[in-house]
Amino acid sequence: MAEIIDGKALAQKVKAELVKRIEKLKADKGIVPGLTVILVGNDPASETYVNAKHKDCVEVGIKSDVIRLPETTTQEELLALIDKLNKDKTVSGLLVQLPVPPQIDEKAIIRAIDPKKDVDGFHVTNAGALFVKDDGFIACTPKGIIEMIKTTGVPISGQNAVVVGRSNIVGKPVAMLLLNENATVTICHSRTRNLQEICANADILVAAIGIPEYFTGDYIKEGAIVIDVGTSKVAGKLKGDVVFEQAAKKAAYITPVPGGVGLMTRAMLLENTVLAAEMYG
Ligand code: GUN
Repeated sequence: MAEIIDGKALAQKVKAELVKRIEKLKADKGIVPGLTVILVGNDPASETYVNAKHKDCVEVGIKSDVIRLPETTTQEELLALIDKLNKDKTVSGLLVQLPVPPQIDEKAIIRAIDPKKDVDGFHVTNAGALFVKDDGFIACTPKGIIEMIKTTGVPISGQNAVVVGRSNIVGKPVAMLLLNENATVTICHSRTRNLQEICANADILVAAIGIPEYFTGDYIKEGAIVIDVGTSKVAGKLKGDVVFEQAAKKAAYITPVPGGVGLMTRAMLLENTVLAAEMYG
């Protein structure tokens, strides 16, 4: 039976460390880290995420500002607001909650955010820094995943890591981080042939396809580390991409849903915000 990688406990530990760093920033430099989140429109899932981010900030002592804009906001209006916040010294971290309404070009918005405030790690400057192993903000979910894998004590170097999913937010950056840790990385996606066979050879499996309970026990190697990034709502309940009971019988370590990757993602956003204040505040 697999050992559970406890996202809640790990996130609490990260947050406790952040509280100390925030107190030090205040004492040494008189700086209070600030996170500004822009939410355009009324997407209910985005509303939930933004509320969670606000609550997390308050919990550790980050100044949280949520700016809600109407669904009809134009790209020019949003760009003007980003420009203003880029120049605002009290804003350490800045993000626009995605998705944005169709009249707004998501890539143009991400490009407009100052890379030094891009605590999501979505800006091309930060994505590129990861690619060439330079300094920059690392996207929160991938960053949290690597921390979770490291808590197992199993060395990543030399392992067969399989990432299923190739999004800019999770699949591609987590693959790059695993490569930087010297894993042998395979990136799979919807066109991949023999997916089950490839996954069944994975020492580390990162499941990020967004299809609830897709990965049955047949996809899991004995003794593997299984990271479930799925967050699908099924009949009001949060479901991962992995059939937990089946995978847990074969894996050595597994992350649960809920209580896994999502909580570490949230903690990493706080960490990036504190980092931003420490480096540029
Ligand atoms: N929408 C869903 N996840 C995220 C995230 O991590 N950051 C932003 N900005 N939008 C999201």
